[in-house]
Amino acid sequence: MSVTSSLPLRPGESRILRGLSEQQALGAALAGALPAGSVLFLEGELGAGKTSLTQGLVGAYGFTEPVTSPTYALMNVYPAPGGPVLHVDAYRVRDVQELFEMDLEDLVRESRVSVIEWGEGLYAEYPDAPILRLEHQEDPETRRVTRVR
Ligand SMILES: Nc1ncnc2c1ncn2[C@@H]1O[C@H](COP(=O)(O)OP(=O)(O)OP(=O)(O)O)[C@@H](O)[C@H]1O
Ligand SMILES: [Mg+2]
Repeated sequence: MSVTSSLPLRPGESRILRGLSEQQALGAALAGALPAGSVLFLEGELGAGKTSLTQGLVGAYGFTEPVTSPTYALMNVYPAPGGPVLHVDAYRVRDVQELFEMDLEDLVRESRVSVIEWGEGLYAEYPDAPILRLEHQEDPETRRVTRVR
């Protein structure tokens, strides 16, 4: 898997994704483009497609078991053959210090990629990490993805 291919979206760019398969395909494309040790932030309301995109990403690294956001555990590591993927759900986190106390920095360094949901409190900490916003559309069969940064 090449790490030199560029990200599928430029900052500010947005795209319509039709159906689960396109949502997962975007995740897979990101998997190929994100350098080792990088962070990817996902924003989006309930049902916007965060888990679907993450499933596509970890699937591209060869991990095919179901993925769910670690809302209560806060963090989960998927032992993908292509490298471990850290999945963080910061929805219930009041102070990002909680995550640093759980060794976030080491886990990010050791992971192939870290997907962080609801991670606004960490945007300044990882200034190079792309932020994707996922949104519902009028057409329930589609979602919009925007690269915010
Ligand atoms: N691009 C898309 N077009 C149409 N449906 C989609 C698309 N992406 C995902 N879905 C569907 O939307 C539903 C919710 O997706 P998903 O679970 O990934 O959202 P989520 O952002 O993780 O939601 P939550 O915040 O509840 O965890 C699923 O049924 C999924 O199949
Ligand atoms: Mg989810």
